[in-house]
Amino acid sequence: MVGTDLKSAKIRIAPSLLSADFGQLREEIARVEAAGADLLHWDVMDGHFVPNLSLGVPVIEKVRACTSLFFDTHVMITDPLKYAEPFIKAGSDHYTFHIEATAEPRRVIARVRELGASVGICLNPSTPAEAIEPLLKEVDLILVMSVWPGFGGQKFIADVLPKVQEIARRLRPDQRLEIDGGIGLGTAGQAVAAGADTLVAGNAIFGAPDPAEALERIRQEAEEARANRTPHLL
Ligand code: DX5
Ligand code: ZN
Repeated sequence: MVGTDLKSAKIRIAPSLLSADFGQLREEIARVEAAGADLLHWDVMDGHFVPNLSLGVPVIEKVRACTSLFFDTHVMITDPLKYAEPFIKAGSDHYTFHIEATAEPRRVIARVRELGASVGICLNPSTPAEAIEPLLKEVDLILVMSVWPGFGGQKFIADVLPKVQEIARRLRPDQRLEIDGGIGLGTAGQAVAAGADTLVAGNAIFGAPDPAEALERIRQEAEEARANRTPHLL
């Protein structure tokens, strides 16, 4: 059952490179890799779907040669269908797009699968779970934004936790529930208690004096919360 698997599924920590020092990207990645990061989270922004620009295909392509970590690519862009191919060919193992960005989510899902990557769908803080209801069973991962996308270092929006619970109850054991924005000590435990199993953390890791220690402390808090999950998730 879903609950059993959620309880036993290892918590995955995904450092968000948006908060890394881009002048030392190789070292930053090596540091979190050595600290046991499970995924690397890439935030792609187009200055249109969100009011900011970040990085694109050439960066992912070059960095692919530096690490074997799983590339969790989160595109905050208006045309996720068009860019699935370049990102996946550049080395993205996974491609998460926003439900608010496309009228053709099924085409994006099919295209990503055809290209051999896993696929996720993301909801902004104000987007209800019902918006992805018909697609819930068709993706590998659901990403719930716990800040408004566009910038790292924002404050966690706790109002999204009921939505995390609602989605967690309905996922199959093989599906993952990720949360992104303002995750760190204090909020990691809340997110996991609500049912998240994959935690994106940018500022809380790369902004810490010792990123490896920060990652480890977040993991400890998350694992404790997982062990104490409320009965509806057991
Ligand atoms: C926001 C991005 C997040 C962000 C998280 O648009 O999707 O991944 O980098 O950063 P923190 O953990 O600092 O809120
Ligand atoms: Zn993100």
